[in-house]
Amino acid sequence: MGAGIAQVSAAAGYRVILSDVSVERAEAGKAGIAKLLARAVEKEKIDAATRDATLDRIEAVGDVAAMAPCGLVIEAATEREEIKRAIFGNVGKVLRPDAILASNTSSIPITRLAQATPDPARFIGVHFFNPVPVMGLIEVIRGLATSDATVGVIKDYAERLGKAVVRANDAPGFSVNRVLMPMINEAIFALGEGVATIRDIDLACQLGLNHPMGPLTLADFIGLDTCLEITRVLFEGTGDPKFRPAPLLVKYVEAGWYGRKTGRGFYDYSGPQPEPTR
Ligand code: CAA
Repeated sequence: MGAGIAQVSAAAGYRVILSDVSVERAEAGKAGIAKLLARAVEKEKIDAATRDATLDRIEAVGDVAAMAPCGLVIEAATEREEIKRAIFGNVGKVLRPDAILASNTSSIPITRLAQATPDPARFIGVHFFNPVPVMGLIEVIRGLATSDATVGVIKDYAERLGKAVVRANDAPGFSVNRVLMPMINEAIFALGEGVATIRDIDLACQLGLNHPMGPLTLADFIGLDTCLEITRVLFEGTGDPKFRPAPLLVKYVEAGWYGRKTGRGFYDYSGPQPEPTR
């Protein structure tokens, strides 16, 4: 997702430093962006000069120390709080005194994460959606201490990216995942209880509700590990049993079947077309 954020930011004219756990991983992220931009040139959506200028604005690095000159730093690491906190600690050591730090977390409370940052007033939730270049929304979440000035900078940034902004309170799952994850979780309960097959649950939502992807396809797309993490945040954050994770979701994650990224989730991705696994 970080690569998607880097791509849309560079396309909007920002200079971007793309950092990952190693410079090789960051370079791989940049190579993925190059591929998507090449496809856009083939489709005549952008010209070659725009592709080159966008890529030239992105520098791939393997260390957050390189973030020292940045005015806005957006963390988009795995949805695990200890990883995000460690990143904020490291970025905090080099962050400009006027820079804003944002998290692309999809569900971890912003007010709590802010405690690991140098200045909670300059910390904010900026939640993108996958695929970032396609999806038109940014969900903005302010923590208890987030300043109006910080919100203003993010609104300007979103506008420059051409994305709509919705604001959500710092409640578990914010707005989108508060609605989306119970739907995905319920689809998995329905599958586990034998209500319908994988194919039929997905087709029902695609054709019956006009969703671009059925909930099980979408779960594989997001990553079942991420879906479980977010569902647990909803369950633990609200204490409401209606959010308890479906046992089948837990089982799939325990099996290492995370969806597209591992080649198997509710579908098997090893062949030319995804095939339902049950
Ligand atoms: N990166 C960039 N562009 C992509 C892309 C990607 N990974 N995947 C598809 N696209 C582009 C294609 O190039 C194509 O562009 P053009 O129309 O300009 O040619 C366009 O998207 C449509 O793609 P396709 O025709 O290949 O496929 P599609 O019509 O089936 O659309 C989809 C693919 C956009 C992913 C669509 O299925 C969709 O909208 N799915 C739902 C996605 C969704 O719900 N995302 C949110 C997930 S939740 C989340 O991200 C946050 C969270 O906290 C969990």
